[in-house]
Amino acid sequence: MTNLSLKSETVSHLESVLAMNKLTGKVAIVTGGASGIGEATAHVFANHGARAVVIVDVQDEKGQAVVESIGLERCSYVHCDVSDEEQVKDMVDWTVQKYGQLDIMFSNAGIASKSDQKILDLDFSQFDRLFKVNVRGMAICVKHAARVMVEKGVKGTIVCTASAVVNNWRGATSMTDYTMSKNAVLGLARTASQQLGVHGIRVNTISPTAIATPITVGTGLTSSEVVEKVFGPFTPLKGITLTVKHIADSVLFLVSDDSAFVTGHDLVVDGGLISLPHLNF
Ligand SMILES: NC(=O)c1ccc[n+]([C@@H]2O[C@H](COP(=O)([O-])OP(=O)(O)OC[C@H]3O[C@@H](n4cnc5c(N)ncnc54)[C@H](O)[C@@H]3O)[C@@H](O)[C@H]2O)c1
Repeated sequence: MTNLSLKSETVSHLESVLAMNKLTGKVAIVTGGASGIGEATAHVFANHGARAVVIVDVQDEKGQAVVESIGLERCSYVHCDVSDEEQVKDMVDWTVQKYGQLDIMFSNAGIASKSDQKILDLDFSQFDRLFKVNVRGMAICVKHAARVMVEKGVKGTIVCTASAVVNNWRGATSMTDYTMSKNAVLGLARTASQQLGVHGIRVNTISPTAIATPITVGTGLTSSEVVEKVFGPFTPLKGITLTVKHIADSVLFLVSDDSAFVTGHDLVVDGGLISLPHLNF
């Protein structure tokens, strides 16, 4: 083998290693990281060479279990209610103190209403509870992540979880408060992207379509089979079932240099789902 072909083999090997390690040296926070989409994303971040992944949640046992499965040396769990600004501030400061900086915030924690929230029956105690987590919590996480990124001069990336189903242009036939909250997430990310661009910080949203996770159980979407039955007929892309890993891989795109010039964007992961006639869930 010539020196030249050896060199090109080494280069292509290095290239494939780099392709598999899109987050080498990065420090990431994943809110709602104890379960579902957040848990899957924490694993993808770790598999792509993140130096540290901080799992933030209120489900302590599940959060600790995720840390153990990723490995204690580069993963930590912090109990933190994202709707409480003091707790988020302390958690972000703790991350920077322990790991030196913050490169990635995946602001993903969210809840659904306990019952259907049609406009004529809107229950404002449920409404307030949901807005506290899904809107106020998102804004707090974006604010404090951006604060430490700006302080440290880090050109970081922030991704917030919105929703494809309820953010389609027709609105939704149910879940008024949840729909409103996820539309607010788009407004938050777009606005923050305008304001933080000057610091080199990118802010985007990910909008998954329905996927069976603990959050959907109360809506009747209890398994991937049920999701497929409800959404399959309206999803143009056939032969594939959405998994949390598909969402996590799309988040990876948004937080990595693969999307270096993408900001203020909503990445919809819905198999082409265009509109849903009438859903009763
Ligand atoms: N599953 C879907 O069909 C779907 C579709 C579109 C968007 N989403 C959004 O994706 C995100 C993740 O949901 P999921 O499907 O993985 O559900 P999930 O229930 O598995 O995960 C949500 C996590 O957020 C945590 N959490 C809730 N309130 C919190 C708080 N105040 N502070 C900290 N953590 C809190 C929960 O404990 C849980 O671990 C949510 O924002 C949800 O609205 C989900």
